[in-house]
Amino acid sequence: MQKNKALVLGITGGIAAYKAAELVRLLVKNNIDVQVVMTEAACQFITPVTMQALSGKPVYAGMWDASIPNGMPHIELSRVADAIVIAPASADFIAKLVHGRADDLLSTLCLARDCPLLVAPAMNKQMWENPATQRNIAQLQADGITILGPDSGEQACGEIGLGRMLEAEDLLSLIEAHFQPKLLLGKKVMVTAGATLEMIDPVRAITNLSSGKMGYAIAQAAQEMGAEVTLVSGASALKPPLGVRTISATSADAMYQAVMGNIVNQDIFIGVAAVADYSPTKKHEQKIKKSESSLTLELSKTKDILADVASLPNAPFCVGFAAESENLLEYAEAKRQAKKLPLIVANLAADAMGSDENSVTLLDKNGAHPLERAPKIEIARLLLQHIVSML
Ligand code: C5P
Repeated sequence: MQKNKALVLGITGGIAAYKAAELVRLLVKNNIDVQVVMTEAACQFITPVTMQALSGKPVYAGMWDASIPNGMPHIELSRVADAIVIAPASADFIAKLVHGRADDLLSTLCLARDCPLLVAPAMNKQMWENPATQRNIAQLQADGITILGPDSGEQACGEIGLGRMLEAEDLLSLIEAHFQPKLLLGKKVMVTAGATLEMIDPVRAITNLSSGKMGYAIAQAAQEMGAEVTLVSGASALKPPLGVRTISATSADAMYQAVMGNIVNQDIFIGVAAVADYSPTKKHEQKIKKSESSLTLELSKTKDILADVASLPNAPFCVGFAAESENLLEYAEAKRQAKKLPLIVANLAADAMGSDENSVTLLDKNGAHPLERAPKIEIARLLLQHIVSML
């Protein structure tokens, strides 16, 4: 995310207001400047003191706050904001937005704004399903307002259904996505990620060490930049990014089939998965007993997914990853040429594995482009920007 974006976070009256506290913490942690504005009803659910402590700024809850320099908070606060996010947005506040009402600071701010408005509804399932609310949501969308969620699940009232506010982490990624330049609009991007598991018998397998974090971050970043993303994932404990079509493919062979079966019309293919190079020739149906003093496994070479995609007629723009333990740039460049790739990402295995950060060098025909050590999502964005510049 570009640094120093400024948000007005509007909190309205609903039990999901407690999640807004976590949202503020995450936004601030991600270098987003947050100005909290609360409705009177919101103050019944969570105190301005809590939100002030988390955002590091005084909270505005009333229309007539004398501390705002020009005495026009509705203009002053919206002037500096890159976006206004309402989370939670109650059914009543949504109805107010539809009609352009301005009877408190937050609704006035929304009406006076000159920036995008994102609304995260939070209400009981019946209230959400009510035709009046559905009409209101459709009207907000028609007015160019972005609706975030809602989620489905257990509600504070004990019912189960649609209407819950999205979790703070999901809201953060949707807000960050909103700010990304849509450089990949209309493009189809396929990413492989995670490790493959090559079964020896029903309970044992050969695998590589890979968390999937880098590949998942690339899938998320591509989606945020407007691409239609297919993530072909091997073993990984991660939750697939919102809005990304995810195909699970645990073995090298299954991953090969999943990729080849969906590769037509892809514009960009990024192979991040740690695919096993060898797989047991014979898969034992039953668990192997440890009766023998030694055991020999015969392994057969797996197919190189990336090299095969790169040599397809009408191949997409192909990007590889090279995780090495020594001679990084030399080995990575040799791999780029052997697999006939326009671009390869070189990283030291010890730098990347399992970590939330990575330090990589991009290698293309013009040479090496080192990127500073950064969170994987930042690396993913820079990589995609580099790909766009090459396209
Ligand atoms: O040849 P090596 O395995 O080191 O190359 C790594 C790159 O090739 C990664 O991008 C990885 O996803 C891809 N790869 C593949 N299929 C394989 C082996 C590696 O797509 N069987």
